[in-house]
Amino acid sequence: MNTPGKAPAPAPPDTDHDPAAPPELDAAGSGYDFGGATFDLNDPGDREVLRFILSQALFGEATGVYCGRSLYAARSLEAARFYTRQARQELGHLQLFADICRTLDLQPAPPHWVIRLLSAHNNYYPLKVLMEHAIGEGMVLDVFKDLLLQTLPDSDPRVPAIKKKLRVVVREEAEHVAWGEKETRAMLREKPWLREPFLGLVELQLMTLPALVSRIAGSRPDHPVLRQMKPFVEHVSARVREQSRRLGFYPEQEPGLARRCAAMAAGTLLFARSQLARSRSQLDKSYLSELGFSDRTR
Ligand SMILES: [Fe+2]
Ligand SMILES: [Fe+2]
Repeated sequence: MNTPGKAPAPAPPDTDHDPAAPPELDAAGSGYDFGGATFDLNDPGDREVLRFILSQALFGEATGVYCGRSLYAARSLEAARFYTRQARQELGHLQLFADICRTLDLQPAPPHWVIRLLSAHNNYYPLKVLMEHAIGEGMVLDVFKDLLLQTLPDSDPRVPAIKKKLRVVVREEAEHVAWGEKETRAMLREKPWLREPFLGLVELQLMTLPALVSRIAGSRPDHPVLRQMKPFVEHVSARVREQSRRLGFYPEQEPGLARRCAAMAAGTLLFARSQLARSRSQLDKSYLSELGFSDRTR
């Protein structure tokens, strides 16, 4: 395994705390309990699994710069402030995960195709806030909060400092999810017809998870953490469906196959259309009213 290079100075965590931000973990709800199972940081097989997980985290944080495009298209001052704050936080996370890889002497690998797919930017704002912020970052939070914080062994002297960094990331990701949920609700109020394609898109997103799980779990049925990957992903899927219910586009009863297929077709169509969407700036049109001035120009 290659030894990573010397670490640049870490970016400080974002201390610009928003008093309106939710308490830590609220957006994620209660988590999965691994029952005290941990990885062994001296076992080559476990290190390879952690290298894979941390590599996906690192790539996901690198795609955090995509919020710069959301800033360009921000429809309000509140949104512009959020994306500015998020950009600083995501760059801080990128540095923190690089530091964690170096601390554990793990060389990052390229991202898995599922992570590339789930973290892709979308110019159609309603899809951006649903798929990236509300659902995507919610699943990221599950992995950081449940998987990494629980299964890194406290007995290793490097781990307490790593967990301290992870808790900063978890708190900030919970804020991103809360923002995504708020904006998704606003989009659904403006465009109630999005409910059906949103339902389908969430189902499609969840269908990609088994590919990741099989890559992580491999063929180690006796491993204390890896043997729990399947129930962990079932927990994540159930939490995402419950989150979608709270957001108002997932039915109380699990949808049947026909409804699911119809919703997935609607979601696929909307996603295809979104690929043609162009990002447009809005604040340059609305800044006067956003700042509390009259819209009249004379
Ligand atoms: Fe992040
Ligand atoms: Fe985030």
